Amino acid sequence: MKLNVLIMAAGLGTRMKSKKAKVLHKLAGQPLVNHVFKTASSLLPAKVVVVVGYQAEIVQEVLCQFHQKLSATTAPILDFATQSEQLGTGHAVMMAREHFAKDVGSLIVLSGDVPLVSVDCLKQLVQLHEQANAAATVLTTHLNNPTGYGRIVRNSEGYFEQIVEDRDATSLQREIKEINSGIYCFNLSLLFDALSKLSPVNAQGEYYLTDTLSILRKEGHKIAVIMSADSEDVLGINTRSELASLEKRLRKRKVDRLMASGVTFLDPDSAFIDDEVVIGCDTVIYPQVIIEGATLIGEGCTIGMGVHISSSSLGDGVTVRNHSIVVDSQLANRASVGPFAHLRMNTHIAENATIGNFVEIKNSSIGKGTKAMHLSYVGDATIGNKVNIGAGTVTCNYDGKQKHRTVIEDNVKIGSDTMLVAPVKVGQGSMTGAGSVVTKDVAENSLVVGVPAVVKKKLDE
Ligand code: UD1
Ligand code: CA
Repeated sequence: MKLNVLIMAAGLGTRMKSKKAKVLHKLAGQPLVNHVFKTASSLLPAKVVVVVGYQAEIVQEVLCQFHQKLSATTAPILDFATQSEQLGTGHAVMMAREHFAKDVGSLIVLSGDVPLVSVDCLKQLVQLHEQANAAATVLTTHLNNPTGYGRIVRNSEGYFEQIVEDRDATSLQREIKEINSGIYCFNLSLLFDALSKLSPVNAQGEYYLTDTLSILRKEGHKIAVIMSADSEDVLGINTRSELASLEKRLRKRKVDRLMASGVTFLDPDSAFIDDEVVIGCDTVIYPQVIIEGATLIGEGCTIGMGVHISSSSLGDGVTVRNHSIVVDSQLANRASVGPFAHLRMNTHIAENATIGNFVEIKNSSIGKGTKAMHLSYVGDATIGNKVNIGAGTVTCNYDGKQKHRTVIEDNVKIGSDTMLVAPVKVGQGSMTGAGSVVTKDVAENSLVVGVPAVVKKKLDE
């Protein structure tokens, strides 16, 4: 029998005080609901049904995009059920009834706001549930501060009796430190039977999913409890401060994993590395570095202090010096960038090229061994191999209406403070004099100078 998964993700998340649905808030660069969906997918279930409601279209779109990114072998069928009015977690699950009409066996129910639960933990949950032949199994943990969570009430023999929500609990029940993680494994048909018996008689006037467990127990069915030793795994996010504290834990996990795989961090606590980021061994990361998105960094790289890299790929032996920003760009092996450089929008830096301080490069490709060491703007340009771009060079790529390209061929020397008024091309082996304003194409092996630049002489090849 194949396993099925349901993720509850319809709530607004009132306590976030946000206009954005809680499950869309990002943790380690990924919306909360994506973390949960990824973990669910690793269980290789037959299908995952996500209950959406508040900002349903956006949540669906985010998940569909993420679903496409997961490899075909691990991505289960993804389906959505709509809960147009958020009447509680029990009501949310009810909305998915049709989706499981033809299924039997076990259903894992996950909360879209409990993002760190591990695959192993869920496997153990299913295993215990099936071994115990339970109607429902709930994942619990012990918290020193259980405020806000549903408490697990056990009878005098220690067996599960019911889950009491924080707001419905007596002061004595509030002392209980064992909490409901909001993660369960149910027998499908028994769950939907019990759901139809829920009533919203509680502090929040909601249909509580948690009540199905006591209903099933009272009907004589077995309820199993599995306690997670790692309470970090099952922390829920209801407030921005909980989001920040989980963010910190997750970042730490990521950095710990990278260190274990051979990456050096001079100050692990100050590194912000998104979950998707891959970094090769012997790369050294200086303090206060941010690396985001699907960034790939090779082996033996040096990432300087205060560097911010986003959705980019770096080869081996690349150096990015202090306070540089690299966005949507590619740096080949042994390229060197910065300090204070800004590369963006599909910029390609070839092997052994050196980009120095206060250089901005946008939507351009820079050839092998080329140097632009100081104070330049290179935008919409194709620059060949072994070119030297003098200090203060600007590609004047915008005529007030449109952007135009600048082409600089191999072995060109651009003198300091040259203005290249695009569209313009400088032929290979040519030179521009300091301060020249190049408005027309320059033939190969020519020296041009002046404003506007004119050919002064031909150069030996
Ligand atoms: C829930 C549990 C609580 C548990 C806690 C663990 C209930 C009644 N309470 O409380 O015992 O300790 O999780 O984190 O289940 N949702 C919907 N539709 C709704 C309401 C909620 O889809 O109508 C979704 C939310 O988007 C969220 C999840 O269900 O992803 C949990 O809802 P939330 O309101 O955060 O429940 P808690 O009060 O945290
Ligand atoms: Ca919650």
